Amino acid sequence: MTKVAIVTGGSSGIGLSIVKDLQAQGLKAVSWDIKAPSENVPFIECDVTSETKVQAALAQTIELYGAPSILINNCGLQFMAPVDEFPLEKWNQLIGIMLTGTFLCSKFVIPSMKKNGWGRIINVSSIHGKVASPYKAAYVSAKHGVLGLSKVMALELAEYNITVNSICPGFVDTPLMRQQITKQAELNQMSEAKVASEIMLKPACIKKFTTTEQVADLVKFFVSDSASTITGEAFNMSGGWGMGH
Ligand SMILES: NC(=O)c1ccc[n+]([C@@H]2O[C@H](COP(=O)([O-])OP(=O)(O)OC[C@H]3O[C@@H](n4cnc5c(N)ncnc54)[C@H](O)[C@@H]3O)[C@@H](O)[C@H]2O)c1
Repeated sequence: MTKVAIVTGGSSGIGLSIVKDLQAQGLKAVSWDIKAPSENVPFIECDVTSETKVQAALAQTIELYGAPSILINNCGLQFMAPVDEFPLEKWNQLIGIMLTGTFLCSKFVIPSMKKNGWGRIINVSSIHGKVASPYKAAYVSAKHGVLGLSKVMALELAEYNITVNSICPGFVDTPLMRQQITKQAELNQMSEAKVASEIMLKPACIKKFTTTEQVADLVKFFVSDSASTITGEAFNMSGGWGMGH
């Protein structure tokens, strides 16, 4: 039977590449997103911060495509400000999308994975799930939280043949990343080119942005049988962040 995959935030950037790649493998992949996709891929409108909207999107997914056994918790948002100026509303929004959203989607999709006797949950965290950068209080907190939640789920779900792994990209060339270059340039009073080379790529050994297709390739590996004994891991895809000074 064709496997059904849900990709949150699958309408743009990394998520869109993941949807297209899973489809190319012959799976049924659908984007759950607050906005329609920029390309023609299956899409169900869903705000992952809302319990009722997640439940409704799941019901629609099952009706249209069948019971899901793959969940890619990918959607995200960035907002940068010093902690003492960080608006509570933005804190709640970022934690809601990236941490609570990962929890809610997992919570409601897990029963169908258990029923199938097979499942894969892949969380797109970030290198900021392991290290910090200034001005990213909510993002760093949410991404660290996702890694903790992944470990709990890995422990709880192993006996059901469900693995839970995370991907920790450094910087990937997407609209979210481009928006950060602009904001960092403003906060640090630097040109955008300098921000890319002197701030964003500084901690990496390889001075290149990762592509969305490369992230989709790692998702493909975690979904494959080759990865059936890998769980609870958080795999960096960061050009070697933090290997030295
Ligand atoms: N781009 C990078 O450099 C980078 C690096 C590390 C981690 N990440 C992570 O990768 C993931 C994807 O990021 P991207 O760069 O592709 O961003 P993007 O902005 O291109 O895509 C994010 C998608 O999430 C959707 N979204 C936002 N709020 C939502 C909500 N409440 N419910 C459902 N969907 C929602 C957006 O509409 C958008 O389509 C994010 O979790 C991000 O933190 C990105």
